[in-house]
Order: sequence, then C-alpha cells, then structure tokens
Amino acid sequence: MINNQKVGAVIVAAGSGERMGGVDKMLAPLGGRTVLAWVVGVFQECPAIDEIAVVLGEHNIEAGQRLLAGFSKVIAVCRGGERRQDSVLAGINHLGGCRWLVIHDGARPLLTADLITDGLAAAAESGAAACAVPVTDTIKLAGDDDYVRETLSRKRLWAVQTPQVFRSDIITVAYRQAQAEFTDDASLVEKAGYRVKLYKGSYGNIKITTPAHLALAGVLLGERGG
Ligand code: CTP
Ligand code: MG
Repeated sequence: MINNQKVGAVIVAAGSGERMGGVDKMLAPLGGRTVLAWVVGVFQECPAIDEIAVVLGEHNIEAGQRLLAGFSKVIAVCRGGERRQDSVLAGINHLGGCRWLVIHDGARPLLTADLITDGLAAAAESGAAACAVPVTDTIKLAGDDDYVRETLSRKRLWAVQTPQVFRSDIITVAYRQAQAEFTDDASLVEKAGYRVKLYKGSYGNIKITTPAHLALAGVLLGERGG
C-alpha cells in the first residue's frame, strides 16, 4: 500500500532465454535458490507490495507453482505471450484492484526493496517512473554499413532497467494503444504521450542475459552476504 492505495507487482519471466544457450535462466541455481525465487523473494519482503503476479512460459507453470507456493503475496502464476509486452499484459490482467503497478524483469534477481520503494515515490509524482543508470560506455550511432554517423554525448544517456512503476490508468491506456513491439513498458507509455520520470537504479541490478551474467550475479550476491 502507498497512501492507502493497493500496489501490485508483475514479474515477467516468460521469455525464451535464447542468449543463455539452452540454460533455463529463471530456474537456474543462484546462491542456493533459483533466479526466480530471488526476484519473488524481494517483492514478497517489500512492505509496500500487496499482490504479485508471476508470468511464466507454459513449460514452467507447474514448476513455478510449486516453487512459489510459499510466497503469500503471489496471487497468480500465469502463462506469458509471444512478445514481452504480451507477458506483462497477462500479469496486469490479474491485478485489477491495484492503483499502482510495479513491473519487473524476472531476469533481474539482484534488485533491492529500495529500488521498488524509490520507484513508487517517483511515480507518485509523475504517474510513470523507470529505474535507470547513466551509461558508462561511449555510445555511437551507426548506419546500416556500420560506419559511425554520430557519437552521442554521454551526459544525457541512461541505460534503463526495471522496476518500472505506473499508475494503473496510465499503463492501461498505453497498453490499449500499443501497436508495435516494445522492449520495456516505459517506451509504450511514452508512445502514448505520457511523461516518464527516470529514477536512480543500480549498476548491480544486472539482467541475466548470457551465462556470464549468471556467474557475475553469483559473485555480486556473495559480496552482498559479506
Ligand atoms: N519476457 C517475457 N515474455 C516474453 C519475452 C520476455 O516474460 N515474451 C521476459 C523475460 O523472461 C525477461 C524479461 O522479459 O525476464 C526481459 O527479456 P530478455 O532479457 O530479452 O529475456 P529473454 O527474452 O528470455 O531472453 P532472449 O531475448 O535471449 O531470448
Ligand atoms: Mg528477449
């Protein structure tokens, strides 16, 4: 709850994990738990969160239900869709009573409860907020021929992560209008004409995309434990 308004979380974990080269990244072991259990655990333990919908690939639904049975805030374990946004929508559809929706990639197990509450605080002002960090690499714009057209100034470039937090009416309108494919929910909301506020994420909040990320997540978790 924030200001007496219900807060729901959608955790999307229904991707095909192609870049993992055959390892199911959601059920992959990480520091004694699975990647998915780490993510759901952070939302379960965050006092602001009331309800959680977890979106999984068809083949993982049964295993997911077993794994998540002990998490009292999980009110739905449902099947995802072809595109990431189809999976997000499947989760949102289970959280009709929530005024605020926190959307998070199941592939980012190193988030903290602070990232969730900071997002809720940012969205309370703007209606839409996305977690982000300043880019550390130099970013160049190239043509189809791979020749550099422009080197962008790093000052205003951000790498966007999840959590992303939205007032329910805003995300509902945005999803109704969405036509193209989007890689995050903020872009869908921007496209619908709303302003999205960026708030400070964490360089440790990595997305497990390749096997190297899984190894790195293990190291970062180990450091956290002292
Ligand atoms: N996701 C989803 N449904 C989809 C596509 C993606 O729920 N149809 C989720 C993934 O499970 C992940 C997050 O969205 O938690 C970000 O996607 P990404 O990092 O691209 O993961 P995958 O799509 O699983 O990986 P790949 O692109 O390598 O196949
Ligand atoms: Mg993908």
